[in-house]
Amino acid sequence: MFLLNVLGAGRVGKTLAKTLKIAGWKIGIVANRTIESSKSAVKFIGEGKPTTTNFAESPRGILLICLPDDELENLNTILKNWSLRGLESIIHTSGAISSRVFDKVTNLSKNIGKASLHPIRAFADPEKNFSKIEKTYFGIEGNEKGIQTALKIVDSLKGIPVNIPSELKPLYHLSAVFASNFLVGLFWIADVLYSRCEMPESVSKEIIISLMNSSLENLSELEPKKALTGPVARRDWNLIKSERETLKSEVPEFISFFDEGIKLLKKLSGGINYGYKQDSSI
Ligand SMILES: NC(=O)c1ccc[n+]([C@@H]2O[C@H](COP(=O)([O-])OP(=O)(O)OC[C@H]3O[C@@H](n4cnc5c(N)ncnc54)[C@H](OP(=O)(O)O)[C@@H]3O)[C@@H](O)[C@H]2O)c1
Repeated sequence: MFLLNVLGAGRVGKTLAKTLKIAGWKIGIVANRTIESSKSAVKFIGEGKPTTTNFAESPRGILLICLPDDELENLNTILKNWSLRGLESIIHTSGAISSRVFDKVTNLSKNIGKASLHPIRAFADPEKNFSKIEKTYFGIEGNEKGIQTALKIVDSLKGIPVNIPSELKPLYHLSAVFASNFLVGLFWIADVLYSRCEMPESVSKEIIISLMNSSLENLSELEPKKALTGPVARRDWNLIKSERETLKSEVPEFISFFDEGIKLLKKLSGGINYGYKQDSSI
């Protein structure tokens, strides 16, 4: 049986810990900023000792760190009251930061496993997410021992591991920002525009999700250039001009995004090569 400790049991930490507990892992300490938050996380996970980094603790086994990315730079200070020599591996879940951030933590043993294990999925609500981890891809990098520990976690979560070169993590994470975070922003813009057309919220939500799904289905079968539909793909430049005027008068705060979006789609449909492999014919 594996022992997991969690520092930063928020959206990702709670979800992974609960899923691993169900898969048979033992949960040790669970630490958030406040003891109240740690207790609430333990209640959700179903096991663990609630604590904070103000108390002296000696976690053994694996320490999974799911803190906000900016906090990873302060790890040496955050962990100063804990004795970490008995740990087998220390792992964090950031997408953009590599396991090299652990080199700044001074109270680790020399042979500890160090890795980053980035679940490539959007975790918004632990209650809804914890049962949906199966088949999630996990970007992994670290030292040999850390990678072996990360693989054990992925195996228990029934996920799919992908190796990421440590030095490319910031670039690798940008892809998720565009694919996941910007999609939510695009949904919001579309929703605001439908609401200006007096569309009821429940109907607009269904329409936008169905429209997004149809584009995603096309993308799963076609390269982006062929999956593109709409005025830019049809070269309806007069329509684009008049739609720009409508947007400018109705919701001017979206105009710069629209202009950049049209420029981007013109490049895509015109086939400018950004090193994207499916553009090699252009
Ligand atoms: N959310 C996602 O979709 C997603 C997906 C993949 C990877 N990630 C990565 O996973 C990591 C965590 O993201 P998240 O979305 O789960 O963040 P989150 O929901 O904001 O959770 C962060 C947790 O860290 C705790 N915390 C913050 N500062 C702390 C400190 N100084 N000492 C102790 N605990 C502290 C917070 O505790 P309190 O409740 O007490 O404030 C909270 O429970 C990030 O590196 C992120 O890039 C996120």
